Amino acid sequence: MPHLLITGGAGFIGSHVVRLFVQRYPQYKIVNLDALTYAGNLENLRDVEKAPNYIFERGDITDAAWINDLFARYQFDGVIHLAAESHVDRSITNPLAFVETNVMGTVNLLNAAKIAWEGNMEGKRFYHVSTDEVYGSLGEEGFFTEETAYDPRSPYSASKASSDHFVRAWYHTYHLPVVISNCSNNYGPYHFPEKLIPLIISNIKQGKALPVYGDGKYTRDWLWVKDHAEAIDTIYHKGKEGETYNIGGNNEWKNIDLVENLCDIMDELLGNAPNTSRQLITFVKDRPGHDRRYAIDASKLRNELGWEPSIQAEEGFRLTAQWYLEHEEWLNHVRSGAYLQYYAEQYNS
Ligand code: NAD
Ligand code: TYD
Repeated sequence: MPHLLITGGAGFIGSHVVRLFVQRYPQYKIVNLDALTYAGNLENLRDVEKAPNYIFERGDITDAAWINDLFARYQFDGVIHLAAESHVDRSITNPLAFVETNVMGTVNLLNAAKIAWEGNMEGKRFYHVSTDEVYGSLGEEGFFTEETAYDPRSPYSASKASSDHFVRAWYHTYHLPVVISNCSNNYGPYHFPEKLIPLIISNIKQGKALPVYGDGKYTRDWLWVKDHAEAIDTIYHKGKEGETYNIGGNNEWKNIDLVENLCDIMDELLGNAPNTSRQLITFVKDRPGHDRRYAIDASKLRNELGWEPSIQAEEGFRLTAQWYLEHEEWLNHVRSGAYLQYYAEQYNS
């Protein structure tokens, strides 16, 4: 039975990846390694936690000895590495946590895989999940391709860029069989409400101000999170060793247009009079070093591996708003921090 390690599986994207792999590949043993930081939430995985091919391991990727021990215990055939500090605003106030987890943590995993697979790399795979933010900021025109030079500008993107470089270094120096993807902004169920889309939905529900940074004309390319999980499955199984693949939704939105769209969807779903929620929009102080525009050219992934996004943003934003309205308990637990008790009840009792 192949053993697959997924790191960060209790987070937003990781939980979708774990669910997809546990359900689609009953022949794999899936080990989800997560430190359960504020962003890790086992309630994201309630529906698969009892699956016979699923194991949860609480651990920190900054703890090299523990990671080496984990590799010795499980004899992994593959790794999909998603664990990270992921929020740009937090990286501005506490950059060191990003260096520790995103850089040191990644190097610890690379080292552990190298030790475990030394002399027998055949059939092994180390898949590093990264972001388009490593490429920096675009003007009005153009797209990030796999050849775009790295130009990270926030502590978050600098830490992810650094981790990408280390992954490539382990490929060239030690022949570790790696593959990397760089994806645009994700949205969908289980997104922690510090990020733009769930924050706006959550604040509309509570009648709170909707903070839009700067002039609101910053642009992001939004991808439905389940399409990212599908892309990760495709790249894990079919991607070429040593290669990088960009993943994007081809769905560019200026923040203000996106927020207004969410307001209108929420008004409709909540039965509000038109334009009720738009009145909550509040322009606030800009994020320092705010990247103006991200846009991905995902043609390599489409042409070489046949992946395409399944839905467009208008549909996805509506599905997301509906999901948050139908999962009030999840949102309340996240807002109150109650989800942190879930681990204690579920695993320590
Ligand atoms: P997230 O913040 O929702 O989840 C991160 C997970 O990693 C959490 O479960 C957390 O507990 C865990 N974690 C954090 N530090 C850890 C540590 N030291 N040891 C073990 N586990 C730890 O993040 P996300 O949005 O799901 O992003 C997952 C990955 O995808 C990240 O590598 C991120 O850079 C990348 N990515 C995210 C996006 C996006 O739009 N969210 C886009 C492209 C790439
Ligand atoms: P975010 O969801 O933090 O993702 P990222 O910074 O990784 O792209 O932010 C998306 C965009 O929304 C970004 O341009 C910053 C902006 N933003 C706001 O305008 N208001 C907010 O409250 C947040 C969290 C983000």
